[in-house]
Amino acid sequence: MTAPIAHFNGKLLPIDQISISPLDRGFIFGDGVYEVIPVYNGVPLRAREHFERLQRSMDEIQLANPHTVDEWMKLTGELLRHHPGDQAVYIQVTRGAPQKRDHVIPKGLTPTVFMMSNPMATPSREAVENGVACVTSRDFRWEKCHVKSTSLLGNVLARQISVAAGATETILFRDGFLTEASSSNVFIVKNGVVLAPPRDNLILMGITYDLVQSLAREGSVRLEVRQVTEAEVRSADEIWLSSSTKEVLGVTTLDGKPVGGGKPGPVFRRMHALYQEYKAKLAKRPVAA
Ligand code: PDD
Repeated sequence: MTAPIAHFNGKLLPIDQISISPLDRGFIFGDGVYEVIPVYNGVPLRAREHFERLQRSMDEIQLANPHTVDEWMKLTGELLRHHPGDQAVYIQVTRGAPQKRDHVIPKGLTPTVFMMSNPMATPSREAVENGVACVTSRDFRWEKCHVKSTSLLGNVLARQISVAAGATETILFRDGFLTEASSSNVFIVKNGVVLAPPRDNLILMGITYDLVQSLAREGSVRLEVRQVTEAEVRSADEIWLSSSTKEVLGVTTLDGKPVGGGKPGPVFRRMHALYQEYKAKLAKRPVAA
């Protein structure tokens, strides 16, 4: 079987023919940014928003973007010709490979661009209907969580806490407030109102987090963006995760205790239906170039 096709610095190649310098600052320092874009039957969901976020991440780390949003969209379309169906497109840009290791950001380095696509498994019907287990931890990551950086050791270690507990995600608290989870945003519901933590430097501004907020507005679901305390999370009627690959997913146990009635709640079911309707409309749109 031939290896899947990936994009590397302007070329489409079988992934096993791509090699990257050990001096690449992505390898040495985790000095890079990335995106993950969900694709439903060939149609990327909110690709433009993902590339706009990539631009913001690159601005934050002072890395010049080698492509415009339109160029990124075109490159994504070209890669997707080799990857039909439901996919998760991964895009990574690192600062490139200098001659030697030095913390100082070198001038004039050519960034390394890598894109791959993998079949996307959205949550199973079972997970949607029964919800998933989560555990909690102190948020021990850095203070630039709004940058979608490839330096993910904090997130990896946070995720591993839930792996050890047989849970799906680790929900994080910083100074007594909810931030997000290791690779998802978190919403809670109290007395019929959805609460979302603010868009600041302590969370990644998820494209799905943003979409959930627009769907709530359009679908007359009450939603407030404000700081959420740990106590509010622990006494929530509902807790949800959101991400490009998890869509919206109900959390039914937290640290082994049932959330609300122990089943995904009515507000979750409404949001999940709105999300699925949004996806269905997307499928009717022409495939992006
Ligand atoms: N993770 N917060 C963190 C820390 C994340 O890593 C992610 C996404 C999100 C949700 O963002 P979005 O809705 O744009 O997917 C929030 C991706 C899927 C990943 O790293 O694989």
